[in-house]
Amino acid sequence: MTIRILSTSPLVGPALQNLGARFPELTIAPFRSIAWKMSLANAEALVGLLSEPLSETDLDLAPKLRVIGTYSVGVNHLPVEACEKRGITIVNTPGVLTDATADLALSMLLALTRRLKDGEALARSGHWKGWAPDQVLGTGLARKVCGIMGTGPIGKAFARRVFALGMRPVFWDRENKGTPVDFGAGIARRMPLADLLPISTVLSLHCPLTAETRGLLTRPMLDLLPKGAFIINTARGGILDEEAVVHMLHQGLLGGVGLDVYEGEPNINQAWFRAPRTVLLPHLGSATQETREAMAELLCDGIAATLGGKLG
Ligand code: GLV
Repeated sequence: MTIRILSTSPLVGPALQNLGARFPELTIAPFRSIAWKMSLANAEALVGLLSEPLSETDLDLAPKLRVIGTYSVGVNHLPVEACEKRGITIVNTPGVLTDATADLALSMLLALTRRLKDGEALARSGHWKGWAPDQVLGTGLARKVCGIMGTGPIGKAFARRVFALGMRPVFWDRENKGTPVDFGAGIARRMPLADLLPISTVLSLHCPLTAETRGLLTRPMLDLLPKGAFIINTARGGILDEEAVVHMLHQGLLGGVGLDVYEGEPNINQAWFRAPRTVLLPHLGSATQETREAMAELLCDGIAATLGGKLG
């Protein structure tokens, strides 16, 4: 029997082709292209990207749909409740991208605190006169507090990394239980945001974008951070008030901001390009060869399981 799988991308590695061989047939068509729209009617499985939001109207056009696989851990671009109502399974890629995303957050943090962009610019400028006591001074992290929003695998993996640098991680999460968090290399406090922000030299976002976290970090909240704090966001745009953060950078209130995600991406608010002390990346959290292959495998295994067979 033919099972129709519709994907917007070949993904990375052989997993999707293998899935297509196991459950013929596989169609790859760009998101919202005519071919994609025409294939919706018969599709039993959809594979898509985090940049390709689906609506309930799309589900109406896909009456045979049994499973949606998203090549991401985040599912905020999918009509989750409507899928639940219709018995459509959502498969995502948790776990396999934890280390890659935590590594990227740490890269941005160190790039900002040790001013890598300034140092490299000086080295390349042709005007470097040699070592000097006060040249490109950065900010040390040891013995300072790192506030982590989110107690999921990525937040904990980031905590282990900053703990190895000598920082003290503390957590906030939506459940706000007040119980300690075991992050693998130690136990950390879980605290309300209003208590966490004033002590956090570093604030790193690792929570999903949900109705509760959308717009959570407003200017009054951000004003609770100590002067010179660093903010890292590898989670989702929309949690942080970007305009407020840009303004705070211009006012000299923040040490730096590293962003991998943006509200309304791939559009980036032009104000970011004029803001000082930033590292801006194009959503690269999971972007390693190994991780993207593992994500494809996990996704395709999940789809195969839903479609009723194991991937050979
Ligand atoms: C990346 O942002 C993901 O959700 O996988």
